[in-house]
Amino acid sequence: MKVVLAGDLDAAEWVAWRAALAQAMPEAQWLAPDEARQHAAEVHAAVVANPPPGSLAGLPALRLIQSLWAGVDRLLADATLPAGVPVARMVDPAMSAAMAETALWATLALHRGFFTYQQQQGDGLWRQHPQRRADEVNVLVLGRGAMGSAVAQRLAAQGYAVRTWGRDNPAGLPPLVAAAEIVINLLPLTPATRGLLGARFFAGMRAGAALLNFGRGAHVVDGDLLAALDSGRLRHAVLDVFHAEPLPPQHRFWSHPRVTVLPHAAALTDPRSAAAVAAANLRALGDGQPLAHLVDSQRGY
Ligand code: GLV
Repeated sequence: MKVVLAGDLDAAEWVAWRAALAQAMPEAQWLAPDEARQHAAEVHAAVVANPPPGSLAGLPALRLIQSLWAGVDRLLADATLPAGVPVARMVDPAMSAAMAETALWATLALHRGFFTYQQQQGDGLWRQHPQRRADEVNVLVLGRGAMGSAVAQRLAAQGYAVRTWGRDNPAGLPPLVAAAEIVINLLPLTPATRGLLGARFFAGMRAGAALLNFGRGAHVVDGDLLAALDSGRLRHAVLDVFHAEPLPPQHRFWSHPRVTVLPHAAALTDPRSAAAVAAANLRALGDGQPLAHLVDSQRGY
């Protein structure tokens, strides 16, 4: 099987991915987009990592586009994507485990005041704050997919009072948001969730609550979040994803005392495990078996 490997990858990353994929699936021929176009009629599958728009143009024989990214919003926004070709998301337990670790770190830091102590150190301030138990902290996880579920399970195992919300329950959101002290966003970015984390959402949050955004930058209305942080309505935000990445140097999130910025590193795709996940789906394609983790183009994820 000839497979095109396309992505927003530098040369070293491209080589590393090709090596991992070739190891997971030595029987495939792994081609760069330019090579693939020379064999267009024989290229039946694409493995993609956030590919620049147009990367898959001119490949009419494609029968599967396997993403190495969990979120496929940018991929689906590419108007040159061959129409009607199934797209599969990356669902990798190693990635979900990494996300659960990041969520646990941020939740612990908020619950035990470690972000506050870090700031106090900067001010040379020695001051203890009340120490609460994990079961006194209500956490709401938005999204019940692979990542949301892994995060909810890890936090519950750590003793937190965890609730989850999915888009099948729109009426249930306000009371859950009102009760939560920490809201963790792991929703897919779709037309229905874009801008969900805006003024109305923040007004419905508990005073002094915190937001962890591990979904996509476009879930958040930045100006509304800054207003909620400036007014003290929100105590803290941990942000891993942004409208523009890298986050522009002049953006206020960088220097805001109530914001912790991560460089889209909450859960990186691990080539070792993700290559095996991709290979399993490509083999299913070759064998005419059902494909896993297909995106529903109506739902957008
Ligand atoms: C990362 O954000 C991903 O979608 O894999």
